[in-house]
Amino acid sequence: MDGAEEAAGEMEALGLDAFMAMDEAARANLPKSRLKKMLRLEANAKKKEEKAKEQAGAQEAETRRRMEEAEKVVITMDPSLPQAVKCKIGKLKCAPAEDGGHIGTRVMLQGWTHRLRWESKKLLFLELRDGTGYIQAVMSGNLCMTKDALMLNREASVSLYGTVCSDERAKGGMELHVDYWELVGSSPAEIEMILTHESNPDILLNQRHLVIRGTKASAVLRMRSIITQCFREHFFANDYVELAPPTLVQTQCEGGSTLFHFDYFGEPAYLTQSSQLYLETGIPAVGDCFCILPSYRAEKSSTRRHLAEFHHIEAEFAFIDFEDLLQRIEYLIADVVDRVIEKGGDLLQVLNPGLKPLKRPFKRLTYTDAVKFCRQHNIYKDEATQTHFEFGDDIPEGPERKMTDMIGEPILMIKFPMTLKSFYMKRCPEDRALTESVDVLIPGVGEVVGGSMRMHDYDELMEAYERENIDPAPYYWFSDQRKYGTCPHGGYGLGLERFICYALAQHHIRDVCLYPRYRGRIEP
Ligand code: 4AD
Repeated sequence: MDGAEEAAGEMEALGLDAFMAMDEAARANLPKSRLKKMLRLEANAKKKEEKAKEQAGAQEAETRRRMEEAEKVVITMDPSLPQAVKCKIGKLKCAPAEDGGHIGTRVMLQGWTHRLRWESKKLLFLELRDGTGYIQAVMSGNLCMTKDALMLNREASVSLYGTVCSDERAKGGMELHVDYWELVGSSPAEIEMILTHESNPDILLNQRHLVIRGTKASAVLRMRSIITQCFREHFFANDYVELAPPTLVQTQCEGGSTLFHFDYFGEPAYLTQSSQLYLETGIPAVGDCFCILPSYRAEKSSTRRHLAEFHHIEAEFAFIDFEDLLQRIEYLIADVVDRVIEKGGDLLQVLNPGLKPLKRPFKRLTYTDAVKFCRQHNIYKDEATQTHFEFGDDIPEGPERKMTDMIGEPILMIKFPMTLKSFYMKRCPEDRALTESVDVLIPGVGEVVGGSMRMHDYDELMEAYERENIDPAPYYWFSDQRKYGTCPHGGYGLGLERFICYALAQHHIRDVCLYPRYRGRIEP
């Protein structure tokens, strides 16, 4: 192969860019026909480039001209208009003023530009979001010809003054006809590039502070607040007292493998796994009590229902038996679902219109029968080898969910073997190998509640510490509960985020948190 052929071969591979980078001497080595073709391509490319430059220049000049023009446009508030009433979108009522509504009223709304749609240079539709709702605002003429208007992007914050008008086509039947507006905080155009439909889950989580402004994410957060309120209302309606146990502790509640250790002014300490032990000490003080606080688990698994920090709704009651406990748990879940349906309104209709009141009583299934169910329905301990569960095996998340989905209704799974459960659980009087324990399993989500009767005999608790190799010293205050006026008592812990996944039909637990914490993520 001679030099010219070699150069031609390279050209095929490298293309026009390589040719344009060649010096005269290198080009002289190319075969004539090839050189001619490449020169023609080069000339075309240069022409194209010049044209693009010209167009960009013209566009820049046009933008500059429009900006200069826009700078001359000054808008002022018309003092002859009625004083605007400062309002929240969610409070606007689609009815005439004489019926206590806002149609025809001049209002001032403040919020963020959720969407922008330019109909023409002189007509802009702006969807305003203020956290309480959304409203379409119409801006026309000079109002959308100012420099601020030309530079307006999504997520800028604005104050809009205008009259509320009824419009059947608009969401909520109302529209704001703007007569004056002010930019409060601009938002750069790059907002459009940060999140796109193609953004992968990791990008969405890195940009969670922006994602939560979205229609769906913000609806979930608002519903989370309503659901939390429903739990509090259930507790207060039933005369429980809210307590606030510490979350920085020196005792473990649910086993050492998921403890977060930290240095507490030179002393070893943990982030709490559950407030249960402290809550138990509250019952002789205030009676039935509850708390809604974060719990922490150094979970190795990062499944769609595990977090490292979750909100734990825990309650504790004195002088009850196991049957009372089961009924209280069932009542809590069914009553909170009823309250969520009643309070959820439009948000619930959008997120989960299928949420229905729960049928009571819930199905009860002993651990022993659950093992039988799995064996009968080919739910295996090990799929690959088709190994069946035996009594005493832990039924992990996957098989447990399969069983729950097959049964298709909430289940109170009860009486787990002592070997599978925490040190503090009371034994069943009829079979001391079992505990008076309960997990609530819900189709689609799995376990949402864990609870039990507590060991209330001092000596039995001491034996349990020994069996589990736990030093009783840091638990003296918990043990004292059994020394000074012990009584039969029990309680439960419900994972708020898991319950929200169920109530709002959300697949992934991360989507119901403001800023989820799980293995591999601690920002933002
Ligand atoms: O079953 P658990 O571990 O029970 C306890 O912590 C008891 N001390 C509670 C009590 O009796 N006061 O946890 C209770 C519930 C689970 O059913 C689950 O809903 C939730 O807490 N939970 C988690 N939620 C999200 N991520 C995690 N890593 C969770 N671990 C537990």
